Amino acid sequence: MQKRPFGKSALSASPIGLGCMGFSEFYGQPTDEAEAIATLNAALDLGVDHFDTAEMYGMGANEKLLGKAFKGKMDNLVIATKFGIGRDRQTGAVTGLDGSRDSVRASCEGSLRALGVDTIDLYYQHRMDPATPIEETMQALVELMEEGKIRAIGLSECSAQTLRRACAVHSVAAVQSEYSLFSRDIEDEVIPACIELGVSLVAYSPLGRGLLTGRYGTKDKGLSETDYRNIQPRFAGDNYAANLALVEVVKSIAERHDAHPAQIALAWVLAQGEHVMTIPGTTKLSNLRSNLQAAKITLSDEDMAQLSSLSAQVKGDRYGDMSSVNR
Ligand code: ATR
Repeated sequence: MQKRPFGKSALSASPIGLGCMGFSEFYGQPTDEAEAIATLNAALDLGVDHFDTAEMYGMGANEKLLGKAFKGKMDNLVIATKFGIGRDRQTGAVTGLDGSRDSVRASCEGSLRALGVDTIDLYYQHRMDPATPIEETMQALVELMEEGKIRAIGLSECSAQTLRRACAVHSVAAVQSEYSLFSRDIEDEVIPACIELGVSLVAYSPLGRGLLTGRYGTKDKGLSETDYRNIQPRFAGDNYAANLALVEVVKSIAERHDAHPAQIALAWVLAQGEHVMTIPGTTKLSNLRSNLQAAKITLSDEDMAQLSSLSAQVKGDRYGDMSSVNR
């Protein structure tokens, strides 16, 4: 599928990239390193050219994994990483959000080392820091760009207002926010602002953290104890049952297309326009291969109408604490 640009930056990539978080943390036990490296290299062979990580995923382990897997092979790739969420090195607990100049610069040096590169392709603020004006953070990022340490700037889970203020300092290549059949809150303000300002949207959790793939059963979720989804509202109690019932609609449309429900969920995201790219997360080569085929699916008006009715019926917030998203 034809590459899509990251906003007005010089970067572009295929519309379906790979979210790498799950290799290191949050979705159960980390993947065995050799297996993860083999999967990442197989992704390259399949033509994936956009890989998304963050300083906080595995507290540096995820960036190091990508650095090791792609040593000497990064020239034509977009490797995106993120800064700004502090964690306690002992416990892993989130200690706060920091967009101050000193913190941005220190994080950048750490990510450059972990990835083993001289320049980060796309550098996102992971969550907005309420204590630091976005103008200060943007200025720090512009400095890093002038020093050749980053190629493009991104913001993750910012509001439309923050995006406007940021773009007044320097153009932003991409906003990364949760966006899927189940999570469409950014359609009101953030997406119109992206279109107006020439900023791409990188849709994360396009599969509703796996819910939309139809893989989860009504009784046994099959999540390990360490899986972060155990504490997510959409996976809890009655919400979970109600949300699984909605997935039946996705499954029925998948049957019409002789496709997998995950492919339908991804096709819907890609159909939203040229300004949208997506980074479904997977640790499995078979799932990755299947997800990439979503680019070939064209949804009918009837499919779109049925799918569009789902988000309003979803039960539960995206996060237990919504205070740091869309800010
Ligand atoms: P995130 O952006 O947070 O990673 P997501 O992309 O919405 O969330 O969904 C990721 C989840 O979907 C992962 O649990 C992934 O599991 P694997 O690592 O086992 O693949 C799951 N997933 C991704 N593609 C899938 C597919 N085609 N079939 C089944 N599960 C899939």
